[in-house]
Amino acid sequence: MDVVRLETDRLILDEPTDADIPFIYAYCQDQLISDFTTVPQPYRLRDAENFLTKVVRPGWVNGTELTWALRRKSEPTILGVVSLRAWNDAQAMVGFWLGAPWRGQGYMPEATAAVCDWAFDSTWFSDATPPKSTIVWEALVGNPASALVARKVGFRYTGTGRGEVARFGEFPPSHRAELTRSDRPGPGDNWPTEAFSK
Ligand SMILES: CC(C)(COP(=O)(O)OP(=O)(O)OC[C@H]1O[C@@H](n2cnc3c(N)ncnc32)[C@H](O)[C@@H]1OP(=O)(O)O)[C@@H](O)C(=O)NCCC(=O)NCCS
Repeated sequence: MDVVRLETDRLILDEPTDADIPFIYAYCQDQLISDFTTVPQPYRLRDAENFLTKVVRPGWVNGTELTWALRRKSEPTILGVVSLRAWNDAQAMVGFWLGAPWRGQGYMPEATAAVCDWAFDSTWFSDATPPKSTIVWEALVGNPASALVARKVGFRYTGTGRGEVARFGEFPPSHRAELTRSDRPGPGDNWPTEAFSK
């Protein structure tokens, strides 16, 4: 499928490109990204290159995983990424990370809201077999910043237990939440305070 370009108040969301590789490599040296996402460890320049050639480009072509770069309208440096992956029947899974210098300014809730709103109205959702209706979020226990993003967007907490996303062959305890069109705009409900603890 064609890459989808989105715009929010402060951001442009478009395809990560080769020019972003040095930034992706630098951002992914960060401890929080290695602790809470599934990026390779240690993270080498080759991993950033592989991310573009083996994840981003085929993901858009096949429509299996849609990855957007976040960029401020004022200048095009990549800030981080947000993705939607075809997950199980009727569901897509959202994933995101932001380079450390760009955190705490509400960029990820803004971007994730735009991506989810696009998905609910897209043929990517309506023409899937079966049609998709739900976006799921999952984060390891102890990642309050991610849970705060999910709640701001409108995700409803659905439980804590064995994760469904493999992390180096394990499925550690994770919080889960779901978003449907009627949950937008947020904030989501049912969240226990433990989801916001380190
Ligand atoms: C999760 C993440 C994308 C949040 O994005 P963001 O744009 O910073 O989100 P927000 O600005 O809404 O901040 C979320 C909350 O975390 C707090 N926060 C977390 N890290 C922060 C930092 N380094 N500086 C400032 N605030 C931070 C914010 O204060 C905010 O709290 P609030 O809702 O009470 O205001 C970012 O922290 C990140 O990249 N983390 C590492 C990777 C990761 O965990 N990805 C998710 C895997 S499930």
